[in-house]
Amino acid sequence: MKKVISTINELDFTIADLKPMPAPKKVLLVKPTHFAVEYVINPHMQGHVGQIDKMAAMDEWEHLKNGYEELGFDTHVLEGVRGLPDMVFCANQSLPYIDENGNKKVLMSVMHADQRKGEVPHIQQMYEDSSYQVFHLDEDKFEDFEGMGDALWHYKTGLIWGGYGFRSSQEVYDLIADMYDVPVIRLELLNEKFYHLDTCLCILDQKTALIYPKAFTKNGLDLIHALFDNVIEASKYEAEELFACNATSPDGKNVFIQQGCTDVNQKLRDHDFNVHEFSTAEYLKSGGSVFCMKMMLW
Ligand code: ARG
Repeated sequence: MKKVISTINELDFTIADLKPMPAPKKVLLVKPTHFAVEYVINPHMQGHVGQIDKMAAMDEWEHLKNGYEELGFDTHVLEGVRGLPDMVFCANQSLPYIDENGNKKVLMSVMHADQRKGEVPHIQQMYEDSSYQVFHLDEDKFEDFEGMGDALWHYKTGLIWGGYGFRSSQEVYDLIADMYDVPVIRLELLNEKFYHLDTCLCILDQKTALIYPKAFTKNGLDLIHALFDNVIEASKYEAEELFACNATSPDGKNVFIQQGCTDVNQKLRDHDFNVHEFSTAEYLKSGGSVFCMKMMLW
């Protein structure tokens, strides 16, 4: 089996050949006490410096936290840290893994922007306290890697979808495939508004994905269509303005998504998903929404 796959010709397995991983039951969240837009490192942040309504942001975050708890997930809350306004996007600082013997491992990120590098040690501390074995990239060799912003687990098949182009370097996926001994489907990202893979690909269940097609190359789209039976497409407006593809399905049945994705929500219901709409309006100003505001843990 080829470990890192970038074109459909390299695909030498089907979904049926793969083994699922244990479903994560814990949700890490970082309290938005110090959340703000203080700098511009993605196009969505443009014009929003100093524009966060802190009370609204806290309220939106609390609703999301309750949403996970209502579904029976255990939430684990970390305090925010002054001076690290993006730490609330806790999908980005790491890529956790559990092997078949139940050993928990985590690869820490090398954040692309200097402004975010200070978040990583705080998240690492949480993993150390939760008995994960912590791994680091050689920063001289791998410039960038932004965790589950770009490397998305498909838990039901135990494979990783790895985006590159803006925040993560493509070489990192060879190392991840080796280290975790899992296949990685590597996808190039084309549009800087969709700078993380989690802004244009949402893995909903074993067979279903939600995508914004224009963010991908032809090779990427071929791979997505080869490995998912159902590919739901978001419109430009819902993908770009409402971050529809930054939705998340914590259990493969329920989908948490930014409020107002009318077209995508109808398609999700047609595929039998339960849609839960949340407002993440304050976080959209920073270029993030539901998916990147949490990390699923074992
Ligand atoms: N302001 C943050 C950044 O640009 C937002 C990160 C959102 N995360 C995500 N995975 N989409 O880094």
